[in-house]
Amino acid sequence: MCGIIGYLGNKEAYPILINGLKKLEYRGYDSSGIAIFYQGGYSLYKTKGKVNQLEKKISSLKLHGTTGIGHTRWATHGIPNDINAHPHVSNSQELILIHNGIIENYYAIKIILLDNGFTFKSKTDTEVLVNLIEYIKKKNKLSLEEAVRISLNEIIGAYSIAIVEKSHPERIIIAKLGSPLTLGINKKEFFIASDPIPFINYTNNVLYLKDGEMAILNKNKELDLRKIRNNHKLNPIIKELQINLKKIEKGEYKYFMLKEIYEQPKTILDTLRGRLLITDGLIYIDGFELNKDIFFNAKCITIVGCGTSWHASLIGEYILENIARIPVEVEYASEFRYKNPIVKKKDIIIVISQSGETADTIAALKLAKKKGAFVFGICNVVGSYIARNVDAGVYTHAGPEIGVASTKAFTAQIIILILLALKIGKHKSTITDDFYKKLCTELNYISDKISLTLKTDKYIKNISKIYHKVNNFIYLGRGINFPVALEGALKLKEISYIHAEGYPAAEMKHGPIALIDEKIPVVVLATKKKLYEKIIVNIQEIKARNGKIIAIVNEGDIQVSMLADHVIYVPETYDELSPLITIIPLQLLAYQIAFIRGENVDQPRNLAKSVTVE
Ligand code: G6P
Repeated sequence: MCGIIGYLGNKEAYPILINGLKKLEYRGYDSSGIAIFYQGGYSLYKTKGKVNQLEKKISSLKLHGTTGIGHTRWATHGIPNDINAHPHVSNSQELILIHNGIIENYYAIKIILLDNGFTFKSKTDTEVLVNLIEYIKKKNKLSLEEAVRISLNEIIGAYSIAIVEKSHPERIIIAKLGSPLTLGINKKEFFIASDPIPFINYTNNVLYLKDGEMAILNKNKELDLRKIRNNHKLNPIIKELQINLKKIEKGEYKYFMLKEIYEQPKTILDTLRGRLLITDGLIYIDGFELNKDIFFNAKCITIVGCGTSWHASLIGEYILENIARIPVEVEYASEFRYKNPIVKKKDIIIVISQSGETADTIAALKLAKKKGAFVFGICNVVGSYIARNVDAGVYTHAGPEIGVASTKAFTAQIIILILLALKIGKHKSTITDDFYKKLCTELNYISDKISLTLKTDKYIKNISKIYHKVNNFIYLGRGINFPVALEGALKLKEISYIHAEGYPAAEMKHGPIALIDEKIPVVVLATKKKLYEKIIVNIQEIKARNGKIIAIVNEGDIQVSMLADHVIYVPETYDELSPLITIIPLQLLAYQIAFIRGENVDQPRNLAKSVTVE
């Protein structure tokens, strides 16, 4: 993962870089560093910990210079410490490099460099790359751009890099393969970043570098864009971006995650806007309309994603199979890409990703395209790699999600899957007109029901006070609420570091029930009508072994309420839409427990929002 930033122009670089790094911390935050260049030299500072620790370290220094690069790290090679933090410097101290990605063949290259007298301070693959560039430059007496280009042709792996030569602070060279890299251009002033947010205040003219491209940036000169493979000059395609920065502020909330949980009544309306045309009883999905026949004739659909997006995919499986009667397979992207999947020409593969950047999901997308499949994307981040590279797709419009634990993007993904299922089901008559109308009407008001569900927060806070010290949690659900149980357990694990497992409730007796004792809280999703009686039996099995039950039930529930230790009442809805409601108390429970434990909810340890390494 990691976030990279750079500036080349006539302004002081330091404030641009340090503020930019704070906006990139969602990409990793275990260490950070900065290098500011001036004629004949540079100042370089790096430290273990978050960007504000770096800022504290250098707050008393006056760093002047109009060229600079910075980095916030999520460790892949080498533990998080000051030495492994970026930027990395070559043996001669002449070349300074930041890097996001992984150099897979770094070890073989390191051996060659060691044989040629190079030494290494860190355990990183990045230090190997900067020295490879130095080695090739010196050996062949090349310009920096040619040395970078030739070195990158030797690399196996993924990277976005920015490199500066001490004796030429008026130039930065950047390159991309796999990892994201954007360039903001304001006349002849350049802003480099992993995404455009850090520089959108300065310019909204953005170039998204493509894989295999490098750019030579010279102060006050035109951009020089080239192909890494053959040095061919390319025409830059510069886009104008519109981003509302207000959406990326915490406002009255202590953490972005809580803000994002509370935003859901609104984000769901944004996802539905212009798509659910309730007065006409129609569903219109822009990216879908041109390709609707492919979906209407589909024999099967495969959905691919990671993490929370994978859980949304599982919910999509229930919904599409029930409403549209199309068999659906759900795959972890990381498994799909290596299992030699059976994908035929024109098969439909749906890729789901909040960030549109997840390395495994991108690899799955590429593989599916190579096999001739029709790849449909469901993404949140506008202009992201996946959004730009699918055959067709739809944005979730949940707005920027900053908290590492995904919440509002998840419910937005479910909404899109429901709309797709309804659209296909109606066309194929696999759903009755009456039920179609009922679901559309319910969808139209679901945001109000989510607002009501958020009122459970106060009660959930009290439950959290009782259980925040336990070591294990179990989450149970059946049918469409089984993936919700998985997602609830994931939320708790991610931000509170409490071990939690999600199971289909009936699977308990095949092993997990051995874990039950009076210390273990079991969260049970007991709102389902179809399987309500069955889940009561499961609850009784747990009670018989002294387990503590936290039940999510519908308002007016009596039976489960009599058995459970704690009851969270949520509004009733159709089974097909119930994950939109039942996930809310689970998001709040995870948040409140993590908050009481004093954890950094938005930036949990070891995690990152965009996982751009496999
Ligand atoms: C990371 C994030 C998760 C996210 C997963 C998939 O692990 O921490 O919140 O669900 O990546 O990300 P994507 O952007 O592809 O949905």
